[in-house]
Amino acid sequence: MITKTDSKISYSRWINGEQKSFTEDLVNFRLDSKNSTYAFSALEDGFLLHAYYGKRLGNDDLSYLLRLNENPFTLKSNNRDKGTFMDSKSFEFPCHGTGDYRESCFMVMDKDGMSTCDLRYSSYEIIKGKPDLTQEFYDYATKSWQKVNIPATWSKDGEDCETLIITMKDEHLSLTAELYYTVFTDLDIITRSVKITNEAEKPVDLRRVLSVCVDYEGCDYDYITLNGSWARERILERSHLHHGKQGVDSVKGESSHQSNPFVALVSPDCDENKGEAFGYNLVYSGNFCATAEVTQHKRTRLVMGINPFDFSWTLDPGKSFQAPEVVMSYSCEGLGQMSRNFHDLYRNNLIRGEWKDKRRPILINNWEATYFNFNTEKLISIAKEASKLGIEMLVMDDGWFGHRDSDNSSLGDWFVYEKKIDGGLKYLVDEVNKLGMKFGIWFEPEMISPDSVLYTEHPEWAIQIPGRVPTMSREQYVLDYSNKEVRDHIYEMIKKILDSANIEYIKWDMNRQLTEVGSTTLPTERQRELWHRYVLGVYDVMNRLTTDYPYLLLENCSGGGARFDPGMLYFSPQIWTSDDTDAIERLKIQHGTSICYPASSMGAHVSDCPNHTVGRTTPFSTRGDVALVGTFGYELDVTRIPEADRNAIPGQIEKFKKYNPLVRTGDQYRIGNIFEDNTYDAWMFVAKDKSEALLTIVQVLGRPNYPQRVFKLPGLEPDARYTLEELDITLSGETLENAGVAIEMYGDFSSRTIHLVKVRK
Ligand code: GLA
Repeated sequence: MITKTDSKISYSRWINGEQKSFTEDLVNFRLDSKNSTYAFSALEDGFLLHAYYGKRLGNDDLSYLLRLNENPFTLKSNNRDKGTFMDSKSFEFPCHGTGDYRESCFMVMDKDGMSTCDLRYSSYEIIKGKPDLTQEFYDYATKSWQKVNIPATWSKDGEDCETLIITMKDEHLSLTAELYYTVFTDLDIITRSVKITNEAEKPVDLRRVLSVCVDYEGCDYDYITLNGSWARERILERSHLHHGKQGVDSVKGESSHQSNPFVALVSPDCDENKGEAFGYNLVYSGNFCATAEVTQHKRTRLVMGINPFDFSWTLDPGKSFQAPEVVMSYSCEGLGQMSRNFHDLYRNNLIRGEWKDKRRPILINNWEATYFNFNTEKLISIAKEASKLGIEMLVMDDGWFGHRDSDNSSLGDWFVYEKKIDGGLKYLVDEVNKLGMKFGIWFEPEMISPDSVLYTEHPEWAIQIPGRVPTMSREQYVLDYSNKEVRDHIYEMIKKILDSANIEYIKWDMNRQLTEVGSTTLPTERQRELWHRYVLGVYDVMNRLTTDYPYLLLENCSGGGARFDPGMLYFSPQIWTSDDTDAIERLKIQHGTSICYPASSMGAHVSDCPNHTVGRTTPFSTRGDVALVGTFGYELDVTRIPEADRNAIPGQIEKFKKYNPLVRTGDQYRIGNIFEDNTYDAWMFVAKDKSEALLTIVQVLGRPNYPQRVFKLPGLEPDARYTLEELDITLSGETLENAGVAIEMYGDFSSRTIHLVKVRK
């Protein structure tokens, strides 16, 4: 619920030996969700001060939290201390240049070469639902205006959320900022974004437009981030805040393997089930930053948005710039609830399309089975065997186009490599369809190999600085997606392939970061826009693809999980989580990913052993149980794996089908913490109606002596009784939560699943 109230604050202070009285008229805004309150006020002179974010408060006037009577007090009455006021009060959208030296959200470069901006409150509006976010920009290659839908959460029916739009103005620059706050009341979620409009007669350069700032009282918080590397994505890290700035970012052109656009501030006592947690996740797939700053006053400022590093955007008169959205999830019941808020929001109000609420087809991908060494015959032999076992879709990975026999050629040549796909694509797809299976295909649409027809014809389409030798990575360059001609050309090629056969799935890959970031079509003064224009270009093509092919299942991927972000989830209901398919490594990767992303979105496959990335051999059943917590599929040569493994596949598939509705739609409880105790992990999915649950345990290291571990199982109905089918015992939800259940495990890398079913009264 969003409320606006007017109030007056009166107080007196001693000034030069005399007691003086002051009053200040305030416009107060309050956003309440089920368990949280967010409050801020506009002062008479237009400063927008933050009052509170945290546990739901009583129906009180919260303006005392602005501490306007504290030195430096109300600015209107005390202009002599404006500098101190600016650097000590809590601001909703701090600008650079007028005395707030903490991290700011906004900085410009105006026509006079000045970087100061001073946005003041002007008006507000409260609307039901949530407006779409779009960005208009001029395309220099085609000399046309383009408009792109920016990924963002959406309202289902206009009733599940409300939006407050605060308009702020800088009269000197004739600039307007609209701050959007949306409350999803039932989910304890607030989203924020910002739109800047230039109302002046000359262009202005935007140098920094972050989407969110929240100032917290105190600094006794832990800071959680998801960091990693290739094959080790989203490893959870937690440290106590310290004085100064700490943060994560990406400057690679994508959200990256190294950092995820996620941070959380949590109370030091916060664990999975208790304590306060404030999660922030940016709905963006390019360069981002998230910084927590502990200030001189021992308060904490958190900001997040597009990375201002090497960023610039020239805003023409009358035009707007739309910054991406930040999703804020609040929990007073630990990290687990913070995650479940994100999961519910993303499953219901971010992911779109045909496959949003459906079980995904069980696929077999030929990458780890064959790498580049395949042809029609090989693929059909895999499909034949797979179909007998119950697998539902064959995905043909990298190597089917141009003359691609290794990763050093053909990106950009999206036509069939007839030598490998003998008989043509339609023939192959038809044969696979005849087996009762769907067919999916791999693309890497943002890339160009120097050894390609496309590069021979259009070397200027690669991102580059003319005259400089470009940096190669995986022997490929990145296409200039800011150029509409490039996007159109690539999209037409993709369309041709999609229209040539019954293709029902695409794996959209992106296998290198950006370097020498320059465009052959953008004018000099707009070259620094390329980082953001690139992302907008990617969004444009994904928008077209998902609009033109609404039934297509799209899976994003970037060298594994380098672009696992909410921006991508807006287009694809699933993302390849990591190239590391080892069941034990996946425990950490999937645990970290689950901090803000739902299991329904995690691409997870059973692969062959010894694992191709880490060389570890794990039981086939454990690989299955770990992949069950994702979209589920196989990535192995089913014609060559040990017979015992092959024979186990139908059983695994049956198990997946039985439990997928629970995993896809239920509430996830992380029971083990692989980052604190790396000898085991455990998690549970509880049905929304609490009628059943699935507990999975993976033991990394077997233990002698006390082989049983006690697992406490929260999230069940306290006074209902549950039968733990595999253990043949029945206990109440209360007992399971507080005393737990002792379960014996045997052997390294072993796993167990236990189905809990509520006993009918
Ligand atoms: C990336 C992906 C893999 C595979 C290869 C193909 O690394 O993450 O799954 O598709 O590209 O080149």
